[in-house]
Amino acid sequence: MARRHPRNDDPLSAASGRVSKSAAPRPTGGSSRAARPRTFGNLPAPPKSVADGALEHYEHPAYYDRAYAARSADVEFYVEQARGVRGPVLEYGVGSGRVALPLLRAGVSVVGVDHSQPMLDALKRGAAREDGLLERLRLVRGDMRSKRLHQRFALVIAPFNVVLHLYTRRDIERFFARVHEHLTPRGRFVFDFSVPRCEDLALDPERWWGGSRVSHPRFGKRVKYAERFHYARMTQVLTTWMRFTGDAATEQAVLTHRQYYPAEMDALLHYNGFVDCRWAGGFESEAPNQAADTLVVNCRSGRSRSR
Ligand SMILES: C[S@@+](CC[C@H](N)C(=O)[O-])C[C@H]1O[C@@H](n2cnc3c(N)ncnc32)[C@H](O)[C@@H]1O
Repeated sequence: MARRHPRNDDPLSAASGRVSKSAAPRPTGGSSRAARPRTFGNLPAPPKSVADGALEHYEHPAYYDRAYAARSADVEFYVEQARGVRGPVLEYGVGSGRVALPLLRAGVSVVGVDHSQPMLDALKRGAAREDGLLERLRLVRGDMRSKRLHQRFALVIAPFNVVLHLYTRRDIERFFARVHEHLTPRGRFVFDFSVPRCEDLALDPERWWGGSRVSHPRFGKRVKYAERFHYARMTQVLTTWMRFTGDAATEQAVLTHRQYYPAEMDALLHYNGFVDCRWAGGFESEAPNQAADTLVVNCRSGRSRSR
């Protein structure tokens, strides 16, 4: 399991440390087509394989749930945010329901969007196991950058690094546009993401870290687990390869996370029309200071007045 992703709280991570191209053409200007923000100037675009890293890690929800079972502060935080909110909460990247199931148990109705069918299936099974949850859950399989629900919400959330699966400026612009469309005029958008740390990004990409024994994601057998990291400085994408080595075979999965620096995210929010942004350096409303591993953002749409 990727060290960078779970940070300190991955019980399966063997690693001791704290980690969890093509050149596109330069816009020629002039025509409106050339002015569309699809290109990266002469910065390299992330390779297509980056998209695999938004799916492979989520192929095995049981393993995901086990890996992050100890992570609870964020769950309590999001449940608290949702208490008293009128109407359903929209969760982007709802996954297997690590946050959604506690929300449902707290009496909140949830609309969940995710592109991973295995994660959505796991959430549905989880909700079906308890009385009264499934009726308040609506699941939508789709891409958070494009899915339109034709409904507005007083609270939109994207817990646990969901935004790190937005790899380019275009990705984040499309996603933020969807968030605007789905917020009520006074609605709040709340999300969190891990703060990049230079030392995590400077690890030798050739070296495998870890090597302890964990349960295999699917078969439950004990296998050797190791991770390797590569940070692409121009695209700011951190790729983590997770390797499971058993007696007979070796399997690998990839996880890709765009790294967002705090001031960069602040600018993106500002220039994409979000206002009244309140930042915390964790789930206990800590000030965002030098020690913060995670940033939590609570903002609202500045476009609501014109709607
Ligand atoms: C780290 S998990 C978070 C799941 C859940 N929110 C939680 O806190 O456990 C990220 C989720 O985002 C989903 N995801 C990644 N890229 C996506 C996209 N473009 N559209 C929809 N879902 C996406 C993944 O399938 C995964 O379920």
